[in-house]
Amino acid sequence: MNQDKVIIFDTTLRDGEQALRASLSKREKLQIAHAIAKLGVDVMEVGFPVSSPGDFDAVNSIAEQVKGPIICGLARAMEKDIIACGEALAPAEKRRIHTFIATSPIHLEHKLQKTLEQATEMAVNAIKLAKTYTDDVEFSCEDAGRTPVADLAYVIERAIDAGATTINIPDTVGYTEPTEFAEIISGIKNTVPNIDKAIISVHCHNDLGLAVANSIAAVQAGARQIECTVNGIGERAGNCALEEVAMILQTRKERFGVDTNIKSEEIFRTSKLVSQLCNMPVQQNKAIVGANAFAHSSGIHQDGILKAQNTYEIMKPEHIGMQSNELNLTSRSGRHVIQHRMTEMGYSDNDYNLDDIYSDFLLLADKKGQVHDYDLEAILFDQQLKDDSDYYKLTSLQGLSSNSAVNTTTVGVSIGGEDAIYKAETGNGPIEAAYNALKQMTHIDLNIIDFKLNSKGEGGDAIGQVDIIAQSMGRNFHGTGLATDIIHAGVKAYIHVLNLVHRAQQVEEIKEKHQSI
Ligand code: KIV
Ligand code: ZN
Repeated sequence: MNQDKVIIFDTTLRDGEQALRASLSKREKLQIAHAIAKLGVDVMEVGFPVSSPGDFDAVNSIAEQVKGPIICGLARAMEKDIIACGEALAPAEKRRIHTFIATSPIHLEHKLQKTLEQATEMAVNAIKLAKTYTDDVEFSCEDAGRTPVADLAYVIERAIDAGATTINIPDTVGYTEPTEFAEIISGIKNTVPNIDKAIISVHCHNDLGLAVANSIAAVQAGARQIECTVNGIGERAGNCALEEVAMILQTRKERFGVDTNIKSEEIFRTSKLVSQLCNMPVQQNKAIVGANAFAHSSGIHQDGILKAQNTYEIMKPEHIGMQSNELNLTSRSGRHVIQHRMTEMGYSDNDYNLDDIYSDFLLLADKKGQVHDYDLEAILFDQQLKDDSDYYKLTSLQGLSSNSAVNTTTVGVSIGGEDAIYKAETGNGPIEAAYNALKQMTHIDLNIIDFKLNSKGEGGDAIGQVDIIAQSMGRNFHGTGLATDIIHAGVKAYIHVLNLVHRAQQVEEIKEKHQSI
């Protein structure tokens, strides 16, 4: 292992995903997995295969289709977990099984009701079984932050003897502070006799806002893998934020003397994609990727920046792939201008279909006059949401809204490729009226538990984005709709959910058929 390199282990699709209100679809997971691979992570943990057939299938598809990083799956120290993980990861070019068991007195006594010796034996058996699927096995001592170093040393020595090649030290409940966490890492380095045969990894949660600081302190104490997520999403207050550790190690290289393989210019785009698909907005003042991260408001700061950029700026927006040189795009702009702008925004030609983007661009330019970068991204995202195989397709929408009379909306939908049918309904507002019409036409009664309206862009020509979380079949589904008009965006979000529900119903039907054979 090159001691100057810190391995970046991304767990957005495992620890991050498990904290979302609505699970991601396989298609969304694949989209995020491709973006994270492009970002240059070394390892990506993409699910917990034993937890559900859907998770198994998603890990399996990512293992098959995503090239570059090591693809990793999570497994408790149990035979059925390791088998599911080994099988799901089988198609990967490079694969890792990550197995874990709790080691802290609190977890041993109350959760596992086992002694440290019994937990260690389970870990050793799990690692040995995992080794029959791959040489690359990671072992985590869950709640290591609250485990005495002597106990950690006892388990780790045996885990390495059993074949673990990475030893992960999670601060599962985000309890430690940087000096203390660094001492745990040094303690392990100094007392585990075979520690040179494994890489020390850290996995910090952010309950006290210290996940990034603890991870960096651990690197200073000798850890060489950081587990993190894009935008810091994850259980409770989240995990260590990938973009923050990557930019700390890059910006302060003279201090830490270590590198990562992260392509920092991909950070901004990946952050936006994860935020969008996971329905997790990024806080305005979030370090590195927040909307205000590079905005200077005070007069003194603006004056300083004009005199010399480094007076108040330690990184440049371009370092994270944020472009500021917008072109004036109108309906007179040609296809090559759009292609040029998409390239400048960091998209490669096979990320989009130029014909499709260009025809939607012209429609939008006719409506809005000037088209901005965020509009192009919205067009791309909207196209990614559509699928030719969608069962429900919106064909028309017309509404009469009033603050004094009843609101009426007429919706046209094509169902299962048939000619469009139309329904007019009333409601308290035009969106509710449209939803009532869709309910009658589809006979699917969605229970909407969250409805958010946001704008993409600024001022009167912003694009409306509606995100809804709706319950059906005992599950939560997340739908998104983007349009220049918010009623249209709200209806698109509803149709997005209807298509997700339809796919889930098909999967259930296939499962039932298999069970009855
Ligand atoms: O926080 C934690 O302890 C975990 C482990 C499974 C690594 O996520
Ligand atoms: Zn975790």
